[in-house]
Amino acid sequence: MNKPKNFSDFFALSMTKFFRLIADTFFAKRYGHRAVVLETIAGVPGMVAGMLIHLRSLRSMKTGYGPQIREMLAEAENERMHLMFFIEIAKPNAFERLLVISAQAIFMTFYLFMYIFFPKTSHRMIGYFEDEAVKSYTEYLELVKNGTVMNINAPKIAIDYYGLPKNARLSDLIRSVRADEMHHSEVNHNYADSLNKSNMPNSGNIRDTKISNKRVA
Ligand SMILES: [Fe+2]
Ligand SMILES: [Fe+2]
Repeated sequence: MNKPKNFSDFFALSMTKFFRLIADTFFAKRYGHRAVVLETIAGVPGMVAGMLIHLRSLRSMKTGYGPQIREMLAEAENERMHLMFFIEIAKPNAFERLLVISAQAIFMTFYLFMYIFFPKTSHRMIGYFEDEAVKSYTEYLELVKNGTVMNINAPKIAIDYYGLPKNARLSDLIRSVRADEMHHSEVNHNYADSLNKSNMPNSGNIRDTKISNKRVA
């Protein structure tokens, strides 16, 4: 757990606890539905951050932003793929679909302004969100392991994406998704830490990296 060190971190953690409370109240132990709805939200921050950093690079006419732009866009794409996996497992009801549409409008607007004015707090908050996602997937995995949730076959789209064996199960999928969330957590906490020191996280000698060529839907 990345302990909050200043007001910005405490704010990020409070927002995370607030959103977690809403999710817990609404979904309780319905982890399949929880994953579907929350992954529709999880795909937003990377896209917003990637777009804003891209625009900043254009305005400033400087190199050095490339790695972070690609990392953020890759995160958004990875979250969208999580949605594609879980939509094969849990079908949202009409109310949940309505919730997704409203939540996207609200969260997209909220995060856009938050990232423009407080990028460090934004990355910290997403780091904490990802920590919560790791916890939720661990709880989901426990329910699968103890037989409360049936360990069905993993969807083909997930088997192809992660290169899992053909007989992979839901538990293997959850482990793979959880590893992605751990990576997102580390990346976002690192960006928040580096923004404590500089306004340009990847300034210096970091060379542009290639986009990961994972398969997409
Ligand atoms: Fe995710
Ligand atoms: Fe994530």
